[in-house]
Amino acid sequence: MAFRTFHIDDKPAEAPEQVQRKKQKALIGGSLEMRRAHGQALGLQGQFLLDPIFRQEDEERLRAACAADPDRPLTIEIGFQMGEFAVAFCLREPQRRYVGFEVRKKFCEETHAALEAAGVQNALICLVDAREMLSLVLRPGSLDELLVFFPDPWWKPRHVKKRLLTAEFIADAARYLRPGGRLLLKTDVTEYADWAEELMRADPHYSVSRLEDPAADLPFTLRERRCRLHGYPTWAVQALRNTVDVATLP
Ligand SMILES: C[S@@+](CC[C@H](N)C(=O)[O-])C[C@H]1O[C@@H](n2cnc3c(N)ncnc32)[C@H](O)[C@@H]1O
Repeated sequence: MAFRTFHIDDKPAEAPEQVQRKKQKALIGGSLEMRRAHGQALGLQGQFLLDPIFRQEDEERLRAACAADPDRPLTIEIGFQMGEFAVAFCLREPQRRYVGFEVRKKFCEETHAALEAAGVQNALICLVDAREMLSLVLRPGSLDELLVFFPDPWWKPRHVKKRLLTAEFIADAARYLRPGGRLLLKTDVTEYADWAEELMRADPHYSVSRLEDPAADLPFTLRERRCRLHGYPTWAVQALRNTVDVATLP
């Protein structure tokens, strides 16, 4: 049987909206430098909405907003989606600073509208890949709380590398959390909770525990509320940054 050879010219031309979608996808993956060199400003507007990848002044504003301040603890949430938690948290904790990272533009726009409508004053949100933001804007030891709620589980073995929580990310978080600060994961995927707990326990910078009642001290996220409504169990794994840097002990 003769194989048909595929030639590049056989490809149908892409519709403009297809090309645009591909450009937007470039937000995740690849290096920050490449995106900066080849991407374009995201065209986001709003008092709480920053574009630190493409606007230098936004990067500086974010860095200043994340500087250590013992009077105004800093909480970062990754993957805020519709912003349900963000709004409730900011209203309940006006003395804290909230910064949210999210990779989808639509969610950033909707959350920004919700924050504005609620009259929130202590939030900043960014359309970014959170994995590269900690080292871009934080000083070591300046972060009080890093929240990862119901991250995409990436079930298939070949997709596990796409998970947000990796050994590298957990080690990176330890660098930016203050002693006593916490990395908190909530999930409704038992395997993800077990797997992440194992990774956290393997990192000597943390003391790790499962929380009894995941909902007790924080507002619900959208997914958490849905889980409660349908009676699905959820898990919370907390990694407290050790006061003493265990790794550097003699
Ligand atoms: C399953 S949803 C969870 C939504 C929400 N936290 C909740 O509990 O209802 C995961 C969210 O994380 C976002 N996300 C995934 N990878 C990300 C990354 N690298 N940086 C920032 N956000 C990310 C997705 O766009 C999505 O909104």
